[in-house]
Amino acid sequence: MSNYHIKHLEEYFQVYRKSVRNPEGFWEEIAEEHFSWRKKWDRVLSWDFKKPEVSWFEGAKLNITENCLDRHLSVRGDKTALLFEPNDPKEEARHITYRELHGRVCKMANVLKAQGVGKGDRVCIYLPMIPELAVSLLACARIGAIHSVVFAGFSSTALATRINDCDCKMVITSDGSYRGAKTLDLKSIVDAALESCPGITEVLLVRRTGNQVNLIEGRDHWLEPLLEEASEICEPVIMDAEDPLFILYTSGSTGRPKGMVHTCGGYMVYTAYTFKNIFQYKEEDVYWCTADIGWITGHSYIVYGPLANGATTVMFEGVPSYPDFGRFWEVIEKHRINQFYTAPTAIRALAKENLEFVETYDLSSLKVLGSVGEPINEEAWHWYNNNVGKKQSPIVDTWWQTETGGIMISPIPFVTPTTPTYATLPFIGIQPALMDEEGREMDGNQVSGRLCIKFPWPSMARTIWGDHQRYRDTYFSAFENKYFTGDGAMRDAVGYYRITGRVDDVIIVSGHNLGTAPIEDSINEHPAVAESAIVGFPHDIKGNALYGFVILKETGEGRNRDNLQKEINQQITEQIGPIAKLDKIQFVSGLPKTRSGKIMRRILRKIASKDTSNLGDISTLLNPEVVEEIIANAL
Ligand code: WTA
Repeated sequence: MSNYHIKHLEEYFQVYRKSVRNPEGFWEEIAEEHFSWRKKWDRVLSWDFKKPEVSWFEGAKLNITENCLDRHLSVRGDKTALLFEPNDPKEEARHITYRELHGRVCKMANVLKAQGVGKGDRVCIYLPMIPELAVSLLACARIGAIHSVVFAGFSSTALATRINDCDCKMVITSDGSYRGAKTLDLKSIVDAALESCPGITEVLLVRRTGNQVNLIEGRDHWLEPLLEEASEICEPVIMDAEDPLFILYTSGSTGRPKGMVHTCGGYMVYTAYTFKNIFQYKEEDVYWCTADIGWITGHSYIVYGPLANGATTVMFEGVPSYPDFGRFWEVIEKHRINQFYTAPTAIRALAKENLEFVETYDLSSLKVLGSVGEPINEEAWHWYNNNVGKKQSPIVDTWWQTETGGIMISPIPFVTPTTPTYATLPFIGIQPALMDEEGREMDGNQVSGRLCIKFPWPSMARTIWGDHQRYRDTYFSAFENKYFTGDGAMRDAVGYYRITGRVDDVIIVSGHNLGTAPIEDSINEHPAVAESAIVGFPHDIKGNALYGFVILKETGEGRNRDNLQKEINQQITEQIGPIAKLDKIQFVSGLPKTRSGKIMRRILRKIASKDTSNLGDISTLLNPEVVEEIIANAL
């Protein structure tokens, strides 16, 4: 019992050692004592990082929604499960109890069944942050359908790619969404996407904004009338621990997005266990994670982790700047939030505004603050600590990834002493390794290298949907017998980890992962463009912003550059989404290339960051002369 909730540093070290010495025994105990299973496992773990193949709790049977809903009914049926805070502060917040949520999930699950969705079918969910989003995830899980949530800020092209990649048969969406002062028309984005998605036979529509929508006979159905008729009783479909629970797409450094596949048993155990410890959640607490459920943070730490612990979890529909920059702090005061989990980019944006926006509100309910998505810089860390936490609430800087399913390196509040910009210590059961360029693991402290994980953990993604070879190539081929994260890190004198950033072609902009290749592909499709290269450069609020170097075709040379810039960004917005727009575009006559024709991004990165003092040896380039020109015209 004691291992489930860690309360002091000695205990952390003890439990950590136990989890590493005997991982099977350790996770078996956690799984056995804190979850309901229809049948226990035959084997706790089998793994082989060479293939790679990993399975946890093999042979076990469960349904995750029984753990997130049913088992709470007798003990906390009337406790608020979801607390919905709408975009408009004048609209009343909604408290949905565990009993109500259970009823709504069952109804929705029955609707899905009636529309022909069954175990193993893929359902695409493209919804704003409204309660139906969480309900849809759980309803899929209830009947064993695999949900694939696509962030409702993605364009129709990006949506279509994701729908087709995993052959979804249904889309759940809404008439529109509110974001601050704006109303977005989601349904027409879906309509445009579905022109190239022949597999979609059903669209369920939630009414949110009252926008006029175009209904396609036989395909589109309003959800409300179907829910009204549906029964509140829906027996869960019993799943194998290793059956897929969901697919979630993340950017790769090349080509198509990767549909990371997470499974039922291990994901449940690990997200629940990390949630309990990393937020030190207590029964009466109100917990708020500001992420969107379109990202992994929302899946694991708005929906599954909190609900598996019987927590009250807030869903916020709006944005931090609406109606003004005090919104986050107003919501914290209003709902007496105890744990607050947000992203460095939001902190930096709010830190730029007048301090009065924070000081107006009573934030004394806060106990724990969290950060996720990118390295938190020292200035933002102190601003958060001083002005939000009033130096009383520990900040948990949580490092993890879509692929890892749950938090991997993080302080445990009131247990691990924090240091600004450090994610500190591996969580229980996590065995990090830092690797040098030659592929050797670096022992001891005060070392930097590529961050790998050398032993499986329960919530790791099991594959990339439809492309196991790519899963292996991306994560298990760089270092033998290790999962490679794509991040660099250092380990300081006391063994604390500090994540230094991506070492591949993924750029993190405002906490969102963007691969360079799909953006370059999109730019290159512009008729005036011959070739392009994208790099990141430091940005005050976004952390990184995108800088594009673009070579024009001869036909493009005479064109007005301002118009071209607009058109290129417009094209990116349509094909990927506004988050991938370029902040700067420089038109160049050539790109620095190696003799084998590879673009030297390292040089472009330095130029974009205005750090040209030490470009290294450029004499081996195919075209060294172009570097001077690019530097001279840099923006
Ligand atoms: C970065 C988000 C530093 C990292 C949960 C990782 C971080 C990528 C942190 C995954 C952190 C996330 N400190 N870097 N606390 N958290 N990252 O898949 O580069 O959207 O590989 O998952 O974000 O982003 P993803």
